[in-house]
Parts: sequence; structure tokens; C-alpha cells
Amino acid sequence: MTSYEQFHELAQSRRSTRDFLTTPIAPELLDKVLSTGLTAPSWSNTRPFMIAIAQHEQRDRLSKALVDRLRDSAELPGMGGNPDFTHQNPYPEVLLQRSQRVGKGIYDTLQIDRTDSKARFNFLERNYEFFGAPTALFFFTHRGLDQFGTLDLGLYMQATMLAATANGLGTCAQGYLGNYPDIIRSEFDVSDDYALVCGMSIGYPSEHPINGWQAERLPLEELLIRPSNS
Ligand SMILES: Cc1cc2nc3c(=O)[nH]c(=O)nc-3n(C[C@H](O)[C@H](O)[C@H](O)COP(=O)(O)O)c2cc1C
Repeated sequence: MTSYEQFHELAQSRRSTRDFLTTPIAPELLDKVLSTGLTAPSWSNTRPFMIAIAQHEQRDRLSKALVDRLRDSAELPGMGGNPDFTHQNPYPEVLLQRSQRVGKGIYDTLQIDRTDSKARFNFLERNYEFFGAPTALFFFTHRGLDQFGTLDLGLYMQATMLAATANGLGTCAQGYLGNYPDIIRSEFDVSDDYALVCGMSIGYPSEHPINGWQAERLPLEELLIRPSNS
């Protein structure tokens, strides 16, 4: 039986990996990790999501197509993306500040100056190179379940990321990988009933300093809603 301390240790050691070794993941290990994700609960047990796995030549083809599209549309609003899921842009003020702190932490660690747009663009490209990972996952949810589908997907993703961590693998959930659904759809046989939400790079973490940088964890206190009469 896993103790709370063991669980806490595992949960807190999961951190987004943004630089991977090229070492491939053994197929049975990938299958095990993705299957463990299915221990997550799901709305009426519908599992309203699907997973596309890109490896080998397909991974390389997708990466090249994504980087090319990014470069071609660098001047366009939203980098020319036409994602199935969008969000308010810029973020609402309270969320914007948190997001900016992540950006600053990453750029500082990579010694990228705020004003160095070329270096910043290179980092953006790294997202579409899956940060060097040998495997990229793309997640779709059934449009019929609306936001509850994305909720279920999030639960699945976290269970999968913890299973990966427990097996020495690193992961990075990536909203960027949802930006160009047409490119992903061209490589996979996926029904129009399913919308692309995001992706995830998965593989063995390198020793790069970016993997040592740790995003802040907000104290629970900041997220608690006060009773209206206090
Ligand atoms: C749905 C989702 C999308 C994300 N998209 C990206 C992304 O496109 N690129 C990236 O570098 N990190 C991305 N992240 C990683 C977050 O920046 C990261 O989870 C957060 O800063 C907390 O750090 P931690 O994962 O190391 O605990 C994403 C995370 C989630 C959950």
C-alpha cells in the first residue's frame, strides 16, 4: 500500500520537462503508462477523449510541419493558428501575472533576454520540436461532452503524467500543440466529432538546466473562496 508520504513525494516530483533525451520509450512501458492514466475517474464513465501517439518518422514529419507553419505565420495574429479550443487573449489580469511569472522563469533560466525576440521565437519552436522528446501525444475530446470532456481529459493527463514520473519519464503538457489541428488531423484518422485540445511531449529528461527550474506553486490560501459574510 502506498503511504501518503510516497504519494506526496511522487506528486511533488512531477515537473514539466522541457528538454528530453532522444532515447526511445519501450513500447510496453508507454502502453503501461497510458493505461495507468485510465485509472482516472470519468464523467458517467464515458471516457470522452482519444489519444494520438506520434513516434519515429511520423513524429518528425509532424514536428517539421508544425515548425514550418509557425515560421510561415509568425506575423499573423495568434501565429496563424486556428485551434479547436481558445481562451481569452490576453489572459484576465489576475491570471496574466501568474502566466508571466512562468515565462520569466523559463527565459531567465535559458538566459533569454525579454527583448531578444529571435531567442524567444526559438524557444517557441522548441515546443513544436517536442523539446526533443521521441514521442508526442495529441489529445482530443468528444465535442458532445463540451467542457466536461476536457475535464475528464485533464484527469487522464494528470494520472498519466504521474505514472510517467513513477517510471523515470518526463512529460510536458502543451497547449501549443493544439494550435494547428489541421496538421495533426492530416496524420491521424480522427472523427470530426472529436476536437483537438492539446498535446504532451513524453520521454527521458536530459540534464539541461531548464529541467531544474521549478515553477512556483501557489499556496492553497490564494485559491480558497471566502464565505460571503466574512
Ligand atoms: C493544459 C496545459 C497546457 C500547457 N501548455 C504548455 C506549453 O504549451 N508549453 C510549455 O512549455 N508548458 C506548458 N504547460 C506546462 C505549464 O507551464 C506547467 O504545468 C506549469 O508552469 C507548472 O509547472 P510544473 O508542471 O513544472 O509543475 C502546460 C500545462 C498544462 C496543464
